[in-house]
Amino acid sequence: MSDLYCVFGNPIAHSKSPAIHAAFAAQTGENLRYEARLAAVDSFFAAISAFVAEGGCGANVTVPFKEQAYRRCDRLSDRAARAGAVNTLQFIDGAVHGDNTDGAGLVRDIRTNLGRALAGQRILLLGAGGASRGVIAPLLAEKPAALFIANRSPDKAQQLAAAFAELAAGVELSGGAFAQLAGQQFDVVINATAASLSGDSLPLPAGIFAPGSLAYDMMYGKGETPFLTLARTQGAAHCADGLGMLVEQAAEAFTLWRGKRPETAGVLASLRAALSAQG
Ligand code: ATR
Repeated sequence: MSDLYCVFGNPIAHSKSPAIHAAFAAQTGENLRYEARLAAVDSFFAAISAFVAEGGCGANVTVPFKEQAYRRCDRLSDRAARAGAVNTLQFIDGAVHGDNTDGAGLVRDIRTNLGRALAGQRILLLGAGGASRGVIAPLLAEKPAALFIANRSPDKAQQLAAAFAELAAGVELSGGAFAQLAGQQFDVVINATAASLSGDSLPLPAGIFAPGSLAYDMMYGKGETPFLTLARTQGAAHCADGLGMLVEQAAEAFTLWRGKRPETAGVLASLRAALSAQG
């Protein structure tokens, strides 16, 4: 019998996680099955219990269940506790263990796949919701010179900056409104807002992209995302979408479950090719 894993979400039909984990399993010789499971929005906890009863060893959790997963866990890793959200579950001796590999996935994609060190960089993080919260601690751990969190509702950005102040030794950490970005420049600009879902473009003042800067969208799609189009127009030198982050957070989860770190470059290249072919 192979070990059983899944990803919970709603919707979930188009999830790339089953293909990613199948590729990791084939590559590392691990004997596992990984399935997409649709959970009803109001019965996520029941879906977890049913999966455990079925013999599930672990699961990933995606939209809209990451906060619910956090509340369900009997034990949390430090990074999951700080993120207030869980994307990776392990079922051990009847207990639900929660971790969050999103931030590590983002940092690894930027550092390893895109070859860009974050130490000493001025980083701008757009958005102050769950996606943003999940990546702040791993970004601070890279020791950037500055991390500014900008949000449509500026009070949420300020609260988030205050909540992570104790991890920000040596980093200029602050939060505020998009309008406060005028006159500032950043080396790395990361979009963690949900603005593109509603087709809105972000009110970024001109001139915020420093020479050689990287624009990174945690979203991805068939073509260029609206944020990356805006960033390119405003002078970002390099643009990257979140497909690499998706693969790296999966690799981090796989490593946690199986004790083997899969190689990601080939998997990312095939996903990219499949996405381009759709366009
Ligand atoms: P997620 O878990 O994806 O982060 P969320 O917690 O609902 O989802 O947060 C969504 C983020 O996208 C917030 O920062 C939100 O800004 P507000 O806090 O002001 O709501 C941001 N966002 C969503 N739609 C936006 C838009 N049209 N323009 C700018 N920011 C937007």
